[in-house]
Amino acid sequence: MKIIIINGPNLNLLGKREPEIYGNSSFENYFSELQFRFKEVQLEYFQSNIEGEIISKLQEVGFSYDGVVLNAAAYTHTSVGIGDAVKAIETPVVEVHISNTFKREDYRHISYISPVAKGVILGFGLLGYELAIRSFLKD
Ligand code: DQA
Repeated sequence: MKIIIINGPNLNLLGKREPEIYGNSSFENYFSELQFRFKEVQLEYFQSNIEGEIISKLQEVGFSYDGVVLNAAAYTHTSVGIGDAVKAIETPVVEVHISNTFKREDYRHISYISPVAKGVILGFGLLGYELAIRSFLKD
């Protein structure tokens, strides 16, 4: 089972960025915990602040991996291109958000990914990534 977590812009600052919303843990720390917890999964992590790099990564993994866990961060609300890439690939994508975007500004209520995602998990902090991985394991 091969699963990749793809994080979008500013998520490289987790642990430092608005900790009251996003928590105190860096993603690298949390990723090591996930690798420990899911030893049976070949788990990869990719982060980019650049929209096109996220699209290229989706294309690269999207015909061979078993699952993509995607937090496209701010691009969720703006990127037709990432939405199109998710639609174009064969690998199922679970959309994750650390915060409950529906509790926040109106512009965060729109997602170009939700209509083409397998499922959406939001508002559970970093636990959302673990839930997304579990959702692939049950298939
Ligand atoms: C986010 C929510 C987005 O609205 C925001 O732009 C982010 C992070 C989240 O995980 O809660 O950068 O995707």
